[in-house]
Amino acid sequence: MKILDLIIKKRDGMKLSKEEIDFFVKGVTDGTIPDYQTSAMLMAIYFRGLDDDETALLTIAMAHSGKIFDLSEIKGIKVDKHSTGGVADTTTLILAPLTASVGLPIVKMSGKGLGFSGGTQDKLNSIPGFNVDIDENHATEYAKKTNIVLMSQNNELTPADKKLYELRDVTGTVESLPLIASSIMSKKIAAGADAIVLDVKCGSGAFMKDIDSAKKLANIMVSIGKNSGRNVRAIITSMSQPLGNYIGNSLEVIEAIEVLKGNVKGDLLDVTLKLGAHMLILANITDKEDTAIKILKENIENKKGLEKFREMIIQQDGNPNIIDDYSLLPHCEHEYKVISEYSGYITETNTALIGRASLETGAGRSYKEQELDYGAGIIMKKRIGDKVEKGETIALIYSSSEEKCVSAGEFIKKAIKIEKDKKEIPPLILDTII
Ligand code: URA
Repeated sequence: MKILDLIIKKRDGMKLSKEEIDFFVKGVTDGTIPDYQTSAMLMAIYFRGLDDDETALLTIAMAHSGKIFDLSEIKGIKVDKHSTGGVADTTTLILAPLTASVGLPIVKMSGKGLGFSGGTQDKLNSIPGFNVDIDENHATEYAKKTNIVLMSQNNELTPADKKLYELRDVTGTVESLPLIASSIMSKKIAAGADAIVLDVKCGSGAFMKDIDSAKKLANIMVSIGKNSGRNVRAIITSMSQPLGNYIGNSLEVIEAIEVLKGNVKGDLLDVTLKLGAHMLILANITDKEDTAIKILKENIENKKGLEKFREMIIQQDGNPNIIDDYSLLPHCEHEYKVISEYSGYITETNTALIGRASLETGAGRSYKEQELDYGAGIIMKKRIGDKVEKGETIALIYSSSEEKCVSAGEFIKKAIKIEKDKKEIPPLILDTII
């Protein structure tokens, strides 16, 4: 088999067979296919697409390009969760301890973030002492003991995805639905999950800007799940404004703790409960969403979720006192208020620009090796639909310098639209794909 023939086949819009897809993934993984031919194939896929069968075959080949995590020693259905990424998306930090407190074994790998703020791994790293570098044996041991382990993405997993993603990043081929779907799902499959709940974000702060492309991506990923023997559901949720009000690494840890303490209501809690309910359903705890939500709410009220979070921090060498004393978390010297220049109602927020503001504070990375400022970030004081008076504070910005704060503030001002008349608040949960 020759890679040139496969590139031509895909370039001309033809379907690739299992053997051809396996050959491509093997060659990418062992380096026998040079980057220029891999890039050409990626571009051919970008323009010609892959059908459901090809996408599932690519996903499975990528999942098997490296190690597959073996979670078989851990009893119960292992349900994973994945978000396609958004601003102030702190759900994992809440969901993992909350669902573990109900009895689900949670072994969750997370990556570092590139862009507006850190990934879950970075948020956890903002907890003093917290160790995310856990190997397979310790992950199994922890999950058996406490039902929960949150860890960094293992380097031995999906080397093909790593290579393909690096090339997609520099060849303009990231925004391809089958490539995004196979990239995400291959990592989830390799991480050993039996079932997966996907949070597909849709809106100005997400990969998928409109509902049609979000639905397409969700359907592809659910179909990959079915084709690879995993039970997968996707919830499409709005990213037309930041999900929570705290953006940044230690700031998001604080907001997650506040939700687990029962002090925060609103969109972040609502999306967390929705995703958590579907995790409970996939774990066969109940088959009714209402019942699942009731169970989760009870474990917020009785603080079992919060105590599970504490147990996880202790188990992974972090300082559990941060739960009761937020001053033990990293924080920034400079605080800056973004003041409204108008009176009216917030009618729209450009979430991508708010993400850009967060990057400006130092909470996110613009290149892979960049160090994060764990204490930096933004607290949004207003959401869509809120009334605002001229002179009122719209957001608080935290950074290591006054200049960074001012520059972030300019992005926030650009991101927020204030109008005389109130407009309808966009729906939060847009669809559920089973
Ligand atoms: N997240 C991934 O893991 N892969 C993609 O291709 C896009 C988002």
